[in-house]
Amino acid sequence: MRRDFRGAAEGSGTVSGEGEVPQAIRKLQPGKLVIASHNEGKVREIRDLLAPYGIEPISAASLDLPEPEETGTTFVANAELKAMQAADLSGLPALADDSGLCVEALGGDPGIFSARWGLADPGIAGLEPVTGEGRDFDLAMRRVNDKLEALPEGTSRAAHFVCALALAWPDGHVEWFEGRVDGTLIWPPRGDRGFGYDPMFVPEGHERSFGEMNPAAKHAMSHRADAFAQLVAAVF
Ligand code: IMP
Repeated sequence: MRRDFRGAAEGSGTVSGEGEVPQAIRKLQPGKLVIASHNEGKVREIRDLLAPYGIEPISAASLDLPEPEETGTTFVANAELKAMQAADLSGLPALADDSGLCVEALGGDPGIFSARWGLADPGIAGLEPVTGEGRDFDLAMRRVNDKLEALPEGTSRAAHFVCALALAWPDGHVEWFEGRVDGTLIWPPRGDRGFGYDPMFVPEGHERSFGEMNPAAKHAMSHRADAFAQLVAAVF
């Protein structure tokens, strides 16, 4: 299976490797596109973003596609494996995303394990299990804050969200894009909008947390918006 790794974020127009062979980014033609996510909210958001480009989004759930295990060690790797599996199984181009929060003073944690930090028993060394079940972002935020509080006073509370998007075709070609938004973590969390770590994240240059902003304001500056802008500029 041929794999062409190139993110627009890395500088478009070349594929790294011997000789830096120039290669055009593959364009996405109007037609069906599988959204390789089982998260209905995400599928809806992506459908809206793609509406102007003659794309007919199809959800992975409606095709009964399985959710692959996210075994990658980076956001891009996980987005790629989700998109590639969906393209392979459906015979159609497929788009997947993978996202999370990276805290500078925690060496980039929770990173690709952002969702797992909300599990009562995340199975991650250094994260104590608690009683209870399911995902709880209050718990995830508290774990992040506890880790920061355990560091020397004055430790930076800088963090960023990352969103990797991978667009795969059935022949194994992949294009990927990585978006990012920088900010600071506050405590206690503020606001009840958004999801995940939004209430404890204040984006750079702003006063309100993502949890306090209206969704349109967040979507105009988020890591996901950044990645989508790159994708749209490159493949349409
Ligand atoms: P996934 O890519 O759907 O697996 O999301 C990973 C996790 O990262 C989510 O469950 C959230 O914990 C976190 N995350 C990703 N994007 C955002 C965001 O925009 N706001 C808050 N948390 C986010």
